[in-house]
Amino acid sequence: MARHSFIAGTGAYLPECIVTNDELARSVDTNDAWIHDRTGIRQRHIAGPRETCAHMGAAAARAALCQAGAEPGEVDAVILATSTPDQAFPATALRVQAELGIANGFGFDLAAACSGFIYGLSVADGMIRTGQVRSALVIGSEVYSRIMDWHDRTTCVLFGDGAGAVFLRATEEPDRGVLSTHLHAQGGLGDILYVDGAVGRHDRPGTLVMNGREVFRHAVTRLVETVEEALAANRLTHDAVDWLVPHQANRRIIDAVARKLGMNAERVVVTVDRHANTSAASIPLALAEAVGDGRIRRGDLVLMEALGGGLTWGSALARF
Ligand code: COA
Repeated sequence: MARHSFIAGTGAYLPECIVTNDELARSVDTNDAWIHDRTGIRQRHIAGPRETCAHMGAAAARAALCQAGAEPGEVDAVILATSTPDQAFPATALRVQAELGIANGFGFDLAAACSGFIYGLSVADGMIRTGQVRSALVIGSEVYSRIMDWHDRTTCVLFGDGAGAVFLRATEEPDRGVLSTHLHAQGGLGDILYVDGAVGRHDRPGTLVMNGREVFRHAVTRLVETVEEALAANRLTHDAVDWLVPHQANRRIIDAVARKLGMNAERVVVTVDRHANTSAASIPLALAEAVGDGRIRRGDLVLMEALGGGLTWGSALARF
């Protein structure tokens, strides 16, 4: 079997402060019933001043290395997916590299909104396959609370902060590892979900703007397509999948995709109720939870899928 990557460790970090729907309803015209019925969300974690993108990413990465039994010196590349970096540069990935004491290799940030983790996994797996690196940290770290318009009830109830990470190692073992990744983007749909500013622009750091209905419509169609694509590429059928670990944007999107796949709810990892949408961090956070509590085990086939601003979307299939 040719060289490819496998997920040797997973890690997570969630900010200490939890904000429930009821608490949010004190400052914006909304209520728990509306939010929960439409999205499945009950609460979200919100970063404090010290819980920066780099700080959370480093904490998640440290946990992933620890679970893998790896030392910082083993890390060849740090790829950090985020739409909310602390600075325009240095890349947040390099702040993480420094915080973990990683002296070798390289790192960079990757911007693909909520699909960022799938994109990062694809890039890292590709680099491992070609022999450019032997290992990589892939991190999703987001502080969406800093790009929210806290007066816009149509968006501010949907998102949360947090970080998740995986540590990838090279292997030639045929029975484990990343089997495939599929990436897509359609820039023509950029205006249905975007940030109207940029990091580094003091006059306009930007807040998130979304046409929720349009995003919903594209999400179910595109996600089902990319999941079918992943299965077909590996000559597998739905019943071969042990766990679906979807991007956690909305319970209704998650359920619609699972239904079309014929997967029962017990096989779907869901964190959106507690984390809300943490964008690029949502899949590695969900992975870390399901590995940590023993649901995902060695040998399990895990299907991941995400869609986000760009539009970007994609899927990854991995044997643990
Ligand atoms: N609390 C209470 N009422 C709210 C509200 C809130 N937080 N947000 C919107 N409403 C109101 C609207 O103003 C509207 O009122 P009106 O009928 O009097 O005009 C009503 O609820 C329905 O709004 P609508 O936008 O049509 O709701 P919806 O059923 O489409 O649900 C979303 C809205 C955002 C939950 C849904 O479109 C969605 O989940 N989209 C996908 C978003 C997503 O996942 N984005 C991230 C992708 S990575």
